[in-house]
Amino acid sequence: MKQVIAIYPGSFDPLTNGHLDLIERGSEIFDELVVAILRNTEKSPLFSLGERRLMLEAMTERFRNVRVDTFEGLTVDYALKVGAKAILRGIRAISDYEYELQMALMNRKLHPELETVFMMPAEQYSYLSSRLVREVAQLGGSIKDLVPEMVEQRLKAKLDPAIKLKDARKTKTGKRE
Ligand code: PNS
Repeated sequence: MKQVIAIYPGSFDPLTNGHLDLIERGSEIFDELVVAILRNTEKSPLFSLGERRLMLEAMTERFRNVRVDTFEGLTVDYALKVGAKAILRGIRAISDYEYELQMALMNRKLHPELETVFMMPAEQYSYLSSRLVREVAQLGGSIKDLVPEMVEQRLKAKLDPAIKLKDARKTKTGKRE
């Protein structure tokens, strides 16, 4: 029987519970799901490619038909390289739709044989994004329940020196920044 492979491309900087929710849903629909982290040299990510890969691998270990990879260049080229028939993307709110539709149609123009499949994460993650997680964590807010514990710990470890430095400055000057 024909196996349907899908890729789930993204930046995953960092992985959130919304991503994990989508990976779980995708793993139930497709025979194989390749979570593909974009190696983007233009953006300066908070987590290195290696760190993002390690966290994704650890958190998706329990899914037998999911594997993690990295790619550069066009998503459609990577999809064809791994024999995928579909590109999985998550849609949270209407605001995502316009950008996702543009990408899906551009990808279809490039490679009409590939389908983009949109899935919705659980409602409790509908406001969640990696960008907001980074921002809240950087400003000292709680990101509990929004990311896996491993990601929370690694975010804290990464941001701690900055927070400590800020606190030290506050104590020294007696001022709030
Ligand atoms: O997690 P993100 O940042 O929303 O993922 C965006 C991603 C990686 C799916 C998108 O930027 C992408 O596909 N980049 C690869 C380059 C490419 O194929 N560009 C044309 C897209 S129509």
